[in-house]
Amino acid sequence: MPTEAAEPRAWWKQAVVYQIYPRSFRDSDGDGVGDLRGIAEKLDYLVALGIDIVWLCPVYASPNVDNGYDVADYRAIAPEFGTMADFDHLAREMASRGLKLVMDLVFNHSSDQHRWFRSARASKDSPYRDYYIWRDEPNDWRAVFGGGAWTWNEATGDWYFHIFAPEQPDLNWENPALRRELWEIMRFWAGKGVAGFRLDVVSFFSKKPFDAPQQGGIFPFYANGPKVHEYLREMRREVLDPLDLMTVGEAPGVTAEEAPLYVDPARGELDMIFHFDHAGIDRTPEDFWKPAPWKLSDLKEILTRWDRALAGRGWNSLYLGNHDLPRLLSRFGDTGAHRQAAAKLFATLLLTLRGTPYIYQGDEIGMINTPFENIGEYRDIVARNGWAEAQAQGRAESEFLADHILVSRDHARTPMQWDASSHGGFTAGAPWIRANPDFSATNVAAQRADSDSVFHYYRRMIALRKATPALIHGDYVLIDAGHPDVFAYVRTLGDVLLLVVLNVSGSAVDIGDLGRDGATVIGNYDGRGALRPFEARVLRMAGETGEFASPACSMNDVDPVYMGLDRRGEA
Ligand code: GLC
Repeated sequence: MPTEAAEPRAWWKQAVVYQIYPRSFRDSDGDGVGDLRGIAEKLDYLVALGIDIVWLCPVYASPNVDNGYDVADYRAIAPEFGTMADFDHLAREMASRGLKLVMDLVFNHSSDQHRWFRSARASKDSPYRDYYIWRDEPNDWRAVFGGGAWTWNEATGDWYFHIFAPEQPDLNWENPALRRELWEIMRFWAGKGVAGFRLDVVSFFSKKPFDAPQQGGIFPFYANGPKVHEYLREMRREVLDPLDLMTVGEAPGVTAEEAPLYVDPARGELDMIFHFDHAGIDRTPEDFWKPAPWKLSDLKEILTRWDRALAGRGWNSLYLGNHDLPRLLSRFGDTGAHRQAAAKLFATLLLTLRGTPYIYQGDEIGMINTPFENIGEYRDIVARNGWAEAQAQGRAESEFLADHILVSRDHARTPMQWDASSHGGFTAGAPWIRANPDFSATNVAAQRADSDSVFHYYRRMIALRKATPALIHGDYVLIDAGHPDVFAYVRTLGDVLLLVVLNVSGSAVDIGDLGRDGATVIGNYDGRGALRPFEARVLRMAGETGEFASPACSMNDVDPVYMGLDRRGEA
């Protein structure tokens, strides 16, 4: 493992990050859209939770074809979010509370309304022509949001490339003048006190030759192009190192084996990446927008594989929800009788793995999917485009929505539920997307008043993590990889050995003597014995840690008897 001395920028390893989707967090002026002043109102809430870093999804000027992931001006604040003065106010308010701000940078593509693209599409002589990617003939590659990846441009009689919507033309990273502009934009925000960046689809920056026919999943065609590491090293040299900025790159299509190429500190690229292996666990391999069944053993295998791949060769990022995924409780947990227990269980998982945890807004109160009733209630471009394609194929709305409700990004984008007043206290006006009717029962005000709530469990779990170096830096070893319902592992550092046992099922599970001699550090039920539905326990064990600390030991060769666990973990 690289030492802290070798990596002086590693303050972000001890940190807990909170992701804000500004459109849906808090509306201060009643126009139905969340805004920067609204975020500033809620900073004390984040401090009470124990947050160190806020990652703000894009707040730049945008026509909002993809809710801000289509940037028309990288140096301007979108009017619906406020002004640059509001941004500066927010940055000051954060700094005075010791909160660090991470901005979202959308550098794979711009909006088609960006002045660079407007100029480039008007004439082949535009100075910005080479900021984008043009061909006389398209190939058969598909766009992530449906349709082909090339769009015809009448004025210049050729085609431009876009991995996402036609309104999101891809930037041409081959062009050094473009890269210099991007470094300047990063310097601009760093000058405003920003501590780091989340880089949107970083793995797509360098394009592969457009010659192979596209078959199967599309991410592999777009990810890991030949020059991506060269570009990231240049970014590191030019901007990140001189300004001491943290980075986390969103990395679809990057495997655990490839991950160290992006985050091994010795290579000087990024600090962390977000992988997609568990994001895609309930999707078909060919189509990210098609639901598929998932198994706990796969989730355990994925999270364990990523820990191993980065152990000593980089640092992991941990997330179970974000603005692109349905709510984690609806995907992996329980939304009925065991909802509270399940929410606390996933808090335990997120905050006891090795890596920097990212909490998505609302997960800390256990928000769940919204019962959207018809296509008109969805806002996301993925829903609208998917429905247009379904109609072209003659599919019925009910049939399309039966699938789409399981994958919709809009579930993560409904208003944050602050209290039991109208629209969950998010806005005094009409919200841009409907609130989940569940806000009257599940909201921040009710949970802050209840010491046994999901919110207070997150708060305690965050405090525990920060006070426990073994939970941050300790080795991780999975126990009983094949158990269908129990996710159990140890974290070890020096003579500290913590055992985490999670029953990811709605039934009781007998775990024999597992953890019998341990002292409970935290849990979501009282008492010992068989695990109750969605029970989570963290125990401190006395004894020899050497056996677990060996990086050579494989997932299956930890002797379960050592921990008092029989092979199946059941009586
Ligand atoms: C990333 C963002 C997502 C956006 C896409 C295109 O995946 O997280 O919200 O739609 O990039 O920018």
